[in-house]
Amino acid sequence: MTGVDVVIMAAGKGTRMKSRRPKVLHRLAGRGLIEHVVRCAAALDPRTVVLITGHGADEVERAVRASDAPANTGFVRQEPQLGTGHAVQQAVPVLPDDGVALILNGDVPLIQPETLRALLDACGGERLALLGVELPDPTGYGRIVRDGDQVTAIVEHKDATEAQRRIREVYTGFMAVPNGLLKRWLGLLTNDNAQREYYLTDVVKHAVAEGASVVAVDCADRLQVEGVNSPVQLAQLERAYQLRHAEKLMEQGVRLADPARIDVRGSLQCGQDVEIDVGCVFEGDVVLGDNVRIGPNCVIANAVIEAGAEIQAFTHMNGEAAGVRVGEGAQVGPFARLRPGAQLGPEVHIGNFVEVKNSTLARGAKANHLAYLGDSQVGEKVNYGAGSITANYDGANKHRTVIEDEVHVGSNCVLVAPVRIGRGGTVGAGSTITRDTEPGTLTVARGRQASIAGWKRPLKAKK
Ligand code: UD1
Ligand code: CA
Repeated sequence: MTGVDVVIMAAGKGTRMKSRRPKVLHRLAGRGLIEHVVRCAAALDPRTVVLITGHGADEVERAVRASDAPANTGFVRQEPQLGTGHAVQQAVPVLPDDGVALILNGDVPLIQPETLRALLDACGGERLALLGVELPDPTGYGRIVRDGDQVTAIVEHKDATEAQRRIREVYTGFMAVPNGLLKRWLGLLTNDNAQREYYLTDVVKHAVAEGASVVAVDCADRLQVEGVNSPVQLAQLERAYQLRHAEKLMEQGVRLADPARIDVRGSLQCGQDVEIDVGCVFEGDVVLGDNVRIGPNCVIANAVIEAGAEIQAFTHMNGEAAGVRVGEGAQVGPFARLRPGAQLGPEVHIGNFVEVKNSTLARGAKANHLAYLGDSQVGEKVNYGAGSITANYDGANKHRTVIEDEVHVGSNCVLVAPVRIGRGGTVGAGSTITRDTEPGTLTVARGRQASIAGWKRPLKAKK
């Protein structure tokens, strides 16, 4: 589509959120409300995106710049906020005279590109097209007043007559309108109404007065046009979004123990025959291969889990930028923790209370209980004993530990990095290893066991 300029209104205060944070920065599915709207706008490949900011403008602009907003996103400020018409008036200097303005609401996060395309089609580069929706309870919304197909006015709830308040077709806050006409009609707005505001919706009145065509497109999917005004509405919309997402996953064949108990805050890509138990949270970009099983109450962020791997209950994975990779057929958890840069090869086992950070484990390596592997390289079939740790940090710098193939590290060992345990070697339980060990050796570094026969324990002194 050529010549579409998206205008997003995001200057309002959001009083009912009772929050210090600007309303449009509250999160839904892990992303700020405004980010959802900007992403939807970007999908239309618009000529420009103009955000109107006011309350918390600095914070909102910073957040949008830091997100993956398109490069052609600009900002204009609306100070003070004198209504939606006044808001769009602030964008007039940056809007070209040709093309079409598509006006969106920064606090209506679930709008979809197809719906906006239909609105742009209805506009056709020449009409004023409004997105409407039928509501069982239209209280508070602007009513769409019609004469057959032709819309004659939008009347705000506070200004409506009893008869008009019975109209259930309301304006959603979305419109598409040729820039040239919009600019002319915005110049005619006044604030002689119940709220003493400049209503954007009054452009309808001016269009009708000029004999211009005004059409309303019905949005059959109410969720897409629902706004967030309060924490209750935000939570309701979150659940609705998550349920929809869960249904999409199930349609692809993913088996969810309970579609009401999964949260996806980013993207989740699943292969065939994936099973996900209750209470799991997925964040950032997560990929699950064929036959992967995720047990209950796992948190998985920025991770790739390859085919046939099984993640047991209460496992926490957070790949951040470096990512986490779990190889084919690996077993992780319960209660395991994989941090950025954990790279598990195929058939690796990571058991309860084991933490892995910035470490590569080759095929078949095992750390089954209570252990820490940081900044390390672990060879094939290594067995890393309960309670063992890599001492990777000397207080200033991190150092690497290399454990070659088929090494056995006993329980409760400390490997003081930098250090290398040679191939096939064994480290005796309770050892503190500070120097490299030769392949095939047994290394024990602990006090020798001694027993003193007939040892008498000290007694308490008599007073
Ligand atoms: C508006 C519409 C109403 C419609 C409803 C749908 C007008 C006059 N009325 O009403 O017909 O049914 O949306 O939700 O447009 N904003 C600014 N600057 C301002 C005022 C608002 O940027 O000075 C922004 C808000 O941040 C928000 C959007 O505009 O994103 C809508 O404002 P809001 O106050 O929610 O509009 P309503 O009064 O609900
Ligand atoms: Ca209002």
